[in-house]
Amino acid sequence: MNLVVVSNRVARGKPNEPMTGGLAAALLPVVEKSGAIWVGSSGRVRDGNQKEPFAEVEALGAGALAMLDLPAAHYGGYYEGFANSALWPALHSRADLIRASEEDYASYREVNAFMARALLRFRKDDSVFWIQDYHFLALGAELRDLGIDKPIGFFLHTPWPTRAVIEGVPHHRELIEAMLAYDLIGFQTEEDCENFLGYVEADLGLVVRDGSVTSRYGRSRAAVFPIGIDPDKFAQQATKAMTHPDVSRLRRSLNGERLAIGVDRLDYSKGLINRVKAFDRMWTMHPSLKRTISLLQIATPSRGGIEAYGNLQSEVAKLVSDVNGIHGEVDWTPIRYLNKGFSQAVLAGLYRTAQVGVVTPLQDGMNLVAKEYVAAQNAADPGVLVLSKFAGAANELEAALIVNPHDVDGMARTIATALSMPLAERRLRWEAMMEKICTGTIQQWFANFVEALQDTGAEQPERAPPLAEATHWPYRSARIH
Ligand code: F6P
Repeated sequence: MNLVVVSNRVARGKPNEPMTGGLAAALLPVVEKSGAIWVGSSGRVRDGNQKEPFAEVEALGAGALAMLDLPAAHYGGYYEGFANSALWPALHSRADLIRASEEDYASYREVNAFMARALLRFRKDDSVFWIQDYHFLALGAELRDLGIDKPIGFFLHTPWPTRAVIEGVPHHRELIEAMLAYDLIGFQTEEDCENFLGYVEADLGLVVRDGSVTSRYGRSRAAVFPIGIDPDKFAQQATKAMTHPDVSRLRRSLNGERLAIGVDRLDYSKGLINRVKAFDRMWTMHPSLKRTISLLQIATPSRGGIEAYGNLQSEVAKLVSDVNGIHGEVDWTPIRYLNKGFSQAVLAGLYRTAQVGVVTPLQDGMNLVAKEYVAAQNAADPGVLVLSKFAGAANELEAALIVNPHDVDGMARTIATALSMPLAERRLRWEAMMEKICTGTIQQWFANFVEALQDTGAEQPERAPPLAEATHWPYRSARIH
């Protein structure tokens, strides 16, 4: 079998480079080992008249990494437009933030069609395709229309919301019908999978049996594959990172004071405002905790061209400044707020330095920071994880201190509890979480999905022939080859 993995963002095999987002960082070590071809966006664009899609191809472990220049005319409408201004807010249950024009949708479909054509170049007779995330909901259907009859899998790294929310996305029906071209559709949690199948039954009127549904594309199965990390590698990185200059400087600067850490992309789904408010409340309710605990919040800027992200950046910066103004002292800064990215190697050391990890998103597919924080701890004296019940990780890490990220006072109380937790309880909780993390690693996730995807080949009844192009997809332009 020849595996072709596709995602919008890809990662190069350079562990010391800052990385944005869980998907690329999580996939890198497993894709590297698997010998797969990983195809994604180069982050650059090129005019749409190119005869052959341009890809920079380099070796990646036993396989290869192909970074494609996406069509200039459609990149904005695809990435900042439909993917991140319509799908992302909907998938995170923020229907109020959905913004999408017809042009954005057309660009999204154009880029999906472009990617499908580009993939033909990397296909072999025994190729199996594994598409990642919401950027490419329609890519499977485009591949089928190009005559690809091999197994195609899809994994969604974000949550999948209730019907009422997804129905707020323009063209939702067409897109979700197109998703049924995937033989296997993977979700992070049972709830996501149930929401999806609920839509398929109620809105598409299809019969769901044992998680499978039959459409004109054949049989499609929806199932749960919670993503994991490589805990051994992370623990090693964390130990090693303790001597890294950034980590050493941080430790020296703390002067015995304790530290809470938050690491997120600057995104409205991450609950940053409520988190900062919770620390404000905690220092107000327990003034004795001033000078004994500070927060290091890393918030890496992301998708800056989108209005909602620009607004959030100003809002969080102002709030942090207000809280520091109220609680700070001439020689004490309550919140250290950094708008930049760090490599995983350094992050591991920062996590190990912090006695409390705060992972409090309003909605999150899995949130690998939660698992990484746990794996980075010192077994003899582990820190405490404060985790939102709306992160996928909460399904597995029940031994964390689970919080409701909308309840600011409740979070304030829980962070204070974390600080006073006795060593014996910290160890018990940490061991329980490590057990879960070690039984659901990224290697197992990858192997389980690929095995299930290969099995779909045997179960698949004969597919209907592709529909004539014009009836299926009117937007595909002749300009894109
Ligand atoms: O959660 C889905 C995801 O693809 C993650 O991998 C990552 O956190 C984020 O979205 C990537 O965002 P972007 O590539 O737009 O920075």
